Amino acid sequence: MKISTFILCIIGLGVLAGYYSNAQPMPSKKILIVYWSRTNNTKAIAEIIQHNVGGTLVALELEKPYPANYRQTVQQVVKENETNYLPPLKTKIDAIEKYDIVFLGFPTWDMQMPPPMKSFLHQYNLSGKTIVPFNTNAGYGVGSSFETVKDLCAKSKVLEGFEMKGGIERDGIYFAIKDEKAKEAETEVIKWLQKIKLIP
Ligand SMILES: Cc1cc2nc3c(=O)[nH]c(=O)nc-3n(C[C@H](O)[C@H](O)[C@H](O)COP(=O)(O)O)c2cc1C
Repeated sequence: MKISTFILCIIGLGVLAGYYSNAQPMPSKKILIVYWSRTNNTKAIAEIIQHNVGGTLVALELEKPYPANYRQTVQQVVKENETNYLPPLKTKIDAIEKYDIVFLGFPTWDMQMPPPMKSFLHQYNLSGKTIVPFNTNAGYGVGSSFETVKDLCAKSKVLEGFEMKGGIERDGIYFAIKDEKAKEAETEVIKWLQKIKLIP
């Protein structure tokens, strides 16, 4: 090989390497990030995820919102869980079939998945897709919610989920993922996304 051809090859490889390292992670994959959030902690995690992987962000809304009052909401949720009630969603998602990866974000409610996310998973067919759960809670963990993701997405590939402590509405702590905690959240989310190989 002539020395000039060799140099051109090296430059070409360098340009290609630069292109791929700046590219969006998995540009061929369509990503949807669906979340339920009452006091914006789970929303903050959803936004960090979108910042790192791109994709479409969708906040679920109900036809009939929960009461503003915390205790009333807890009572209503306990009843809904006991009766397997699925509250109707106001949110409509167009052409869900076009997405390859669906992130599902929700807080722990009553140590379970909140009813609106159960409604979503009953309403939309996610079979064949990669599902990635994430959660915030008041410090008591995800409860049964990640198991419910696996049960309701039996025909999907469910990746390891992410969880972190968010607010404690019972004690008047609403939005907690701000300032130092927001930086900590970004670091933890990036570590997790790397671990599950969604970003390099
Ligand atoms: C109705 C209701 C029930 C809750 N139940 C639990 C629970 O069982 N365990 C827990 O750790 N946190 C519980 N929480 C606290 C939330 O999981 C926590 O504040 C979370 O960060 C809220 O997320 P959000 O800001 O996205 O709504 C509950 C909150 C509400 C409103």
